[in-house]
Order: sequence, then structure tokens, then C-alpha cells
Amino acid sequence: MPLISSSSALGRRQFLQAGVACTVAALSRPVLADEKAPADDGLTTTLHAGNAQVRMVGEEYPKTEVWAYNGIEPGPVLRIRQGTPFRATVENGLAEGTTVHWHGIRLPNAMDGVPDLTQKSIAPGGRFEYAFTPPDAGTFWYHSHDDSLIQMGRGLAGALIVGEAEPPQVDRELLWTIQDWRLSRDAQIAPGFNNRMEAAMDGRVGNTATINGRVTGTVRVRAGERIRLRLLNAAIARIMALRFEGHRPVIIALNGQPCEPHEPNDGRILLGPAMRADVMLDMQGEPGRSYRVIDDFYDRLAYTLVRLEYDKAAPTRPHPSDAPLRLPPNPVPRPDLKTASVHEVQLQGGMMSGMGMGGGMMGMGGNAAWAINGQSMTGDGSPGMPPLFEIARGRSCILDMRNDTAWWHPMHLHGHSFQVLDRDGKPEPHDVWGDTVLLRPRERVRVAFVADNPGDWMLHCHVMEHQVGGLMTIIRVA
Ligand code: C2O
Ligand code: CU
Ligand code: CU
Repeated sequence: MPLISSSSALGRRQFLQAGVACTVAALSRPVLADEKAPADDGLTTTLHAGNAQVRMVGEEYPKTEVWAYNGIEPGPVLRIRQGTPFRATVENGLAEGTTVHWHGIRLPNAMDGVPDLTQKSIAPGGRFEYAFTPPDAGTFWYHSHDDSLIQMGRGLAGALIVGEAEPPQVDRELLWTIQDWRLSRDAQIAPGFNNRMEAAMDGRVGNTATINGRVTGTVRVRAGERIRLRLLNAAIARIMALRFEGHRPVIIALNGQPCEPHEPNDGRILLGPAMRADVMLDMQGEPGRSYRVIDDFYDRLAYTLVRLEYDKAAPTRPHPSDAPLRLPPNPVPRPDLKTASVHEVQLQGGMMSGMGMGGGMMGMGGNAAWAINGQSMTGDGSPGMPPLFEIARGRSCILDMRNDTAWWHPMHLHGHSFQVLDRDGKPEPHDVWGDTVLLRPRERVRVAFVADNPGDWMLHCHVMEHQVGGLMTIIRVA
């Protein structure tokens, strides 16, 4: 079941999970996981951040108190158009400041939603208008970037889909925004964010995974159909490795950018927090059967996220669709590797590093457990902190990222999409681009991009406790 006997080394989850596990029976009702309608016309929208109560687990549990956009969890699915101006008015109904960040969109710096760096935080009762024209089609998302660990951890996030002018031919499209929550026995978000021990390890991994805001037992499918499945890991800490029993998903885009269509390594789709995969699924299972989608990222903690339940009807087509899988390219500039400037980015800290739980290191502030090149920018950014480096607009640059820690880090760059060049010296196959890349412990990953978007841009880990604990910096494009 989606309730997870997780996880990090602390072992206190069992009690949380015990109460929630009884919901299993209530969930056998099939749920179509994409039933939310598009929020608007794709040109304008209003997002109201405020308190809400939502039904996340079974009916026999109380509703869960969340912080949400427009009262729903996750926020409304925004479907906007490539190359067409979009405006969003954000109203702050919270008791604290907030901003909205449009994760992965290459937009003007002033629209990037980072408090103090690109705008003033929106005060309670205040509003801010965001306006941009998305240059790239793909699966993106939006989330709070102020008091991020808490605001995202309480639910301020939603999917942002930029449709292709000519989308590939499929029978159906599904979107799974997957979130991970640590719920108490009465289905409330457990307190205790930013536990120092967890923050220096794998972060606040929860005990309940939801798809589009609900613990979802099954998703109905039809034999023979081709589904485009957009996967978004909107968790604050949980890394996912999804395995589709009896199926062979083909990845066609990663982190907002098309790639060469390919089957994932060892059949598992690996998604760190903030990461997306667009997947083509040919439903080649047997009518009437059901197949599990399993997340087995953490050792010994595999669980079934959801089941694909086949209708009894005969397949809709005798053979899988042979429509082309490749997505049209986005207008992302190609970096010139010969003239690129190379910048070393060392990820440091965490347990087992000697810096561990706020042990302190050169240039690090108070509770920081993490650092980049010996500097810890904590919270949501520290105004006045010098950028890691400055680069002239239009120059190509290579980030040579070295994970000198014992932990995984989904590293995310704002305002640009980079090309993943190699991992531990081995060229990345499949022409992979994106705004986020997952580094395993001790791994070295090089990415390259053209610094064509002027402004100060965040580069940070998207495990929220890592970000607020110092695994964050700024790159200045002058
Ligand atoms: Cu999705 Cu700075 O983050
Ligand atoms: Cu971002
Ligand atoms: Cu991290």
C-alpha cells in the first residue's frame, strides 16, 4: 500500500504508520488519478495561498490540515502554452510571507520568486503578479520558495504543464503529482520539521505517499492503449525509484526537457525531489489483471505506490502503437564545450563528514550541516552573500559537481536548463537535459549550459532540509 514503513535511521515511523495502515481497505475503490480539470484558459490564473482541509487518506480519518493553493492539494494543475504570455496573481492568505517559484521555467529573473534575491516576500494579505512567456514545452511545477521547508512541507506546490504545439500521439495523458507526508494517527501533518539529525541525513522522509493529493489504490487502464504519464516528485525529501510491474515504460523527457526515448536503467525510474519524468506506457498487460507500481528506492522499504487495474475489455489495438515517441526539441541553446568556463562545485557536509550536525566549517553559519565550496547559504537565501561565481551573459559554462558527501542530492539550477555531460567520467547517454540532476553519494557529475539569462540564480539541493541547511548558492549572470 501507499503507506510506507519508512525510513530514515530513526525508527520512530512505525507508530505513525500503524494508525494509517488501516486505511488500506477503504482504498480499493478505483480512482482515476487525473480527474482534476485544467484550472483556466492557460493565459491567466489566480493562486490563493491559504489554509485548507483536504481528504488525503480514507474517509474514516479526519481531513488533513494543509497549506494549499486555491484550497486544493496539490494546487491546481496549470496548463499553459509554449511561447504564449502567462500571468498569475498570487494572493497571500497565510500568516507569514510567501513567494511562488516556477520551477524549471526559463523566465526573467524578477519573476523567479526567490525572496530577497529576486523580489520582496509577499506579506500576509498582499499580492504579487507574475508574468512570463514559457519558452519550453514540458512538465514543470510551481511551489513556494519562502520558508520553503515548512511551506512546501505543508503542501504549497502544484504541477505546471507547458503543452507542445504538436504533442505526440497518445490515447490518454495522465499526471501523477506524487507527494510524501509524515502523518500522525489522526492524519495530520506531524510536527518536527528540521530535526537536526534528519537534516544532516536524508531529510524528512514521510510515511504516506499520495498521487494528486490522495492515497490512491488503483488507476484504471485499458489493454492496448498508449498513455503519456507525467511523473512529478513533489516530495520534500523522499527519493523514488518506480518500477512498473509487467510493463516497459519509455522515458521521453526528464526535468522539463525531451531526451532520446529510452528505457530506464534496470527498469527503475529514479526521481529525486523536484524531478519529473515523462513516460510513454504501452498497456500490454492482460485484461482483467492488475499490476503494481512499486517504489523500492530505500533498502528494505519497498512499497506499492498504486496498482494499474486493467479493464476486462479486449485490447484496443492488436500491437502497441507505432506512433513516434520523440518529442519536438525545445529552443535551449547548446553550450560550446570548447570555450566553456569550468566551475567546480563541491557538495560538502552531512553526517559522516565531521561537519555533520552543525559541527561547523569555515564560513558556515550556526546550524548549517551542509556547504558548497566551504560556504553555507542557509534558509531561503542570505541577502548579501557573494555568488559562487559570476559569468558574462552568453558564455557557456560547465558545472563540475562533486558530491563529497555520503548522501544523495537532486541539484537544481534556476533560470536555465543544462545538458548532463557525464557521470564519473562516463558520458551520459540519451541526450539528457533539464533543470535538476540527481547525484549519488560520492558521484561526480558535469553539466553544461549557456548562461544566457541575466540575474542572480539559485543553485541548490532540492531535499528541503539540505537546502535550508546550507546546500545552496548563487550563480550570477552579468
Ligand atoms: Cu524548485 Cu529553488 O526550487
Ligand atoms: Cu527552480
Ligand atoms: Cu541534498
